[in-house]
Amino acid sequence: MLTDNLITMVEVAPRDGLQADPSDLSTADKAELIRRLIDAGHTRIEAASFVSPRAVPKMADGDELMELVERPDHVTYSALAFNQAGLDRALAAGVNEITGVVVASETFSQKNQRATVAESISRWTSIARQAKSHGLRSSVTIATAFGCPFEGAINPENVADIVDRLADSEPDELCLADTIGVAVPNQVADLFSNASQRVGDTVLRGHFHNTRNTGLANVAGAIGAGVRVFDASLGGVGGCPFAPRATGNVPTEDVVYMVEQMGYSTGLNLDLLIQATHWFETVLGHPAPGLVAKAGGFPSPGC
Ligand code: COA
Ligand code: ZN
Repeated sequence: MLTDNLITMVEVAPRDGLQADPSDLSTADKAELIRRLIDAGHTRIEAASFVSPRAVPKMADGDELMELVERPDHVTYSALAFNQAGLDRALAAGVNEITGVVVASETFSQKNQRATVAESISRWTSIARQAKSHGLRSSVTIATAFGCPFEGAINPENVADIVDRLADSEPDELCLADTIGVAVPNQVADLFSNASQRVGDTVLRGHFHNTRNTGLANVAGAIGAGVRVFDASLGGVGGCPFAPRATGNVPTEDVVYMVEQMGYSTGLNLDLLIQATHWFETVLGHPAPGLVAKAGGFPSPGC
């Protein structure tokens, strides 16, 4: 149940964060990352991507990873599946939620999924129905909802049309994603307000990349439009293998700092997130882009 001052964070570092990072984490390190995320209070983790290992080699070990992770009752794991093979792997791995991606632009859809938008909607609808029949949650992301690296601006009416066409898949959650970090807050508020009038009881989730430094502002814009669920990546790590120059997701600890200072509650422990980011940087072998892990939380009196 969503309450107005509760913000739910979905941690995507293990999947969206790592899929395009230059590092090559071992499966054991990925499991350790997930352990630290749970320690910091995360209850929803996008853990794996059951796509073609040739298309995204860094996600090839999802099956093994899901064997290594802890399974506390309060934690749910989601994973991407775009086709039957992906769904079968996700079911065998025992994930709790299947996530699909439908791209708002035809060119990006071809590059990402080798399918037209219409084909990917119908594939997803079949996968979502099967996921539901197995008792799993399903959520679908509309990628490049705010702009495409190949086609430029995306007409909001096209996004609204995709939102309507995805209704058949009865998703538990629908996510609007700024895959390449081009959105600005008023655009975000408008697109989410429009979507919220179309989706009935389906929960909306925001997914922002900080490529042009508008990510946090976009989270605030979406909150203003009533969104209370956000994807974010520890340290701000991330990108997309199919989007040139795409950079990281909004950093989890930066979002947590901002929204908690705004009076919302996330249930996450900022100090543990910061410690986890410092550990993450050591296994990544490069600094993470987030700022709160460098600056720390709000200063304590006397510091
Ligand atoms: N798991 C494992 N292997 C898979 C797979 C899956 N879910 N889906 C496809 N494959 C393998 C097939 O077995 C085949 O292998 P082969 O060439 O050795 O026989 C190969 O991948 C191609 O499969 P095909 O069904 O022809 O798919 P395709 O070439 O049309 O690609 C996708 C379609 C969607 C499977 C592929 O583009 C993909 O996985 N893309 C990933 C997109 C992504 O993750 N983007 C980032 C997140 S949004
Ligand atoms: Zn993303």
